[in-house]
Amino acid sequence: MNQQPVEGFSKLSKQRKIDWLIKEYLSDDRSYEQILQQYWNGDAILQKLHEEFSENTISNFYMPYGIAPNFLIDGKLLALPMAVEESSVVAAASKAAKFWIDKGGFKTTIINTKKLGHTHFIINVEPHKLQHFFNFKLKKRLFEATEEITKNMRNRGGGILNIRLIDKTADLENYFQLKASFDTVDSMGANFINSCLEQFGKTLTEEVAKDETFTPEEKDSLQIVMNILSNFTPDCIVRAEVSCKIEDLKDDSGISNEEFATKFKRAVTIAEIEPFRATTHNKGIMNGVDAVVIATGNDFRATEACAHAYAAKDGKYTSLTHCTIDGGVFRFWIDLPISVGVVGGLTNLHPLVKFSLALLGKPSAQELMSILAVSGLAQNFAAIRSLVTTGIQKGHMKMHLLNILNQLGATEEEKNHFVTYFKDKTVTHHEVISQFNSLRAQ
Ligand code: MEV
Repeated sequence: MNQQPVEGFSKLSKQRKIDWLIKEYLSDDRSYEQILQQYWNGDAILQKLHEEFSENTISNFYMPYGIAPNFLIDGKLLALPMAVEESSVVAAASKAAKFWIDKGGFKTTIINTKKLGHTHFIINVEPHKLQHFFNFKLKKRLFEATEEITKNMRNRGGGILNIRLIDKTADLENYFQLKASFDTVDSMGANFINSCLEQFGKTLTEEVAKDETFTPEEKDSLQIVMNILSNFTPDCIVRAEVSCKIEDLKDDSGISNEEFATKFKRAVTIAEIEPFRATTHNKGIMNGVDAVVIATGNDFRATEACAHAYAAKDGKYTSLTHCTIDGGVFRFWIDLPISVGVVGGLTNLHPLVKFSLALLGKPSAQELMSILAVSGLAQNFAAIRSLVTTGIQKGHMKMHLLNILNQLGATEEEKNHFVTYFKDKTVTHHEVISQFNSLRAQ
């Protein structure tokens, strides 16, 4: 293959894009075109809608959309929509939901909802002088200059909460920030925040140029580096928790309630102190969080980045969940920083996102934060429960193997036989059917 760079790819029609790819990369094999076409939606309007979500779309990429029922969250019984390809995630969520349903379910608390953004800039001015200019002139002007942009948001109860000048000159010569906090109510607010910040950059430039207290050299030294929201939202936090008396903490693996609680807590402690384990532990949490984030049309890259930054906020990467056993009570919780929206973005556009939000009872952004934290906590509970009792593979085996065997109408004896047979082998649908048929033929 000797490909050439392409000019104006985005301007080609969908068909011309596909033709070009097949010729340049796929040895002119037209069967690849059928693969792409198989995933086009028969409804042309729906297909066009999806194509317009992003540039250079040539097909759709399906993900399983599943439901984890029986989530009792703050007294409401919910069925969670989950878009995820990993086979055990929905099953694990459902199992954890069922475990907690008769123990009071999941309780959540919104701790705060502030979002942050910065205008990063360079100026060669003495910090006190700049602070004085900010306090007595600039801050007011920044609010005034963004009044048009913030009008609708203010009408909905949100807007810019505060703006501060941050001196970062100890870290980088002449580096300062305008650090702003925002309440974006029911929207994730990325566009709103970035629009405000870009206006801050302009206003800062204009006000410095006009101000007589700055020398011409100081004025010339100003450079706006960038205006951008932060996906790290340590002040946009929700807590989700479960608790019960140890005597109610019955696991079906055969170990005692006390042993289960102790082993469970120790596994959480290991994730708290050991970053290698914490990474996998938190990945499992995000299995649950991201699946609902995607199903509700939110940005899973933002939630991932934020969760992991928060897990490392004290200088060492640690667990997002915590566990205590105190006075005979087992308590397990997560503090999850997460910025999501239920208006704007894909929420009003993608039909399945609309379905998800309707299914969840049209939650507010804060209610969605709660649901997401619960989904992460439940997933972590299910993973640790398996890890400290049967081991994780057994659950996967059971999922893959027993479902197929039940479909085939296998007896208990046959099931036991295949559980042993497949203990150290890869389970595939085809292999289970073929082994099952040959056993029956004997
Ligand atoms: C797999 O996707 C997630 C787990 O590895 C999480 C964990 O180990 O806690 C099972």
